[in-house]
Amino acid sequence: MAVHWVKLELDVAGFDQDRFEQYVTKCQSQGLRFTTLADLGDTPEHRRALYELNKECAADIPERGEFYSFDEYVERRFEVASYDPRGVVIALDGEAWVGMAATSEHEDFMFNEMTGVRAGYRGQGISIAMKTFGMTFAEECGASRVRTFHHPANASAIAMNRKMGFVDAVD
Ligand SMILES: CC(C)(COP(=O)(O)OP(=O)(O)OC[C@H]1O[C@@H](n2cnc3c(N)ncnc32)[C@H](O)[C@@H]1OP(=O)(O)O)[C@@H](O)C(=O)NCCC(=O)NCCS
Repeated sequence: MAVHWVKLELDVAGFDQDRFEQYVTKCQSQGLRFTTLADLGDTPEHRRALYELNKECAADIPERGEFYSFDEYVERRFEVASYDPRGVVIALDGEAWVGMAATSEHEDFMFNEMTGVRAGYRGQGISIAMKTFGMTFAEECGASRVRTFHHPANASAIAMNRKMGFVDAVD
């Protein structure tokens, strides 16, 4: 049966940055650090770490199926014109990579490629904090919207996005 993806979008100008910045502050006060792949260094080692984190988190996406091989991931996520390491937010607990929010840049919108938090770190506002941290880059790019889509059974991801102000996309 065909899947009816839940397509959502966020109006960048209408995003309540002050409200959601509190998620960033709270996580930082608990010892987490937010950075980007650009700032950490877009190195082969860091690309591999991102892949491993993405693969682990993607295992919890409903009906995701088998994840890409590393070579496929590189081809789809890094070797594309829409890739920019400034759009890949990483949450760190010490040296451990515990969350990622990867966004790609398109003509007039940003696309959320993947948001994931390691299972033991969920339910603490980390995904909202990462996506809020990443909004600065969306603004710098001049994007008017951030778009995403989810499997309809992915209740946590859909609720998380709606909480940030994402609404059903019109097209
Ligand atoms: C979706 C995911 C990224 C959420 O990360 P998280 O850091 O645990 O989410 P947060 O703590 O920031 O929660 C933010 C909001 O999302 C919603 N939410 C999060 N987990 C939820 C759950 N299990 N059920 C329902 N709503 C949930 C809530 O509205 C929550 O706000 P609240 O706690 O104030 O009610 C995480 O569950 C995950 O990595 N899932 C596997 C990968 C995935 O499906 N990614 C999305 C596809 S790209």
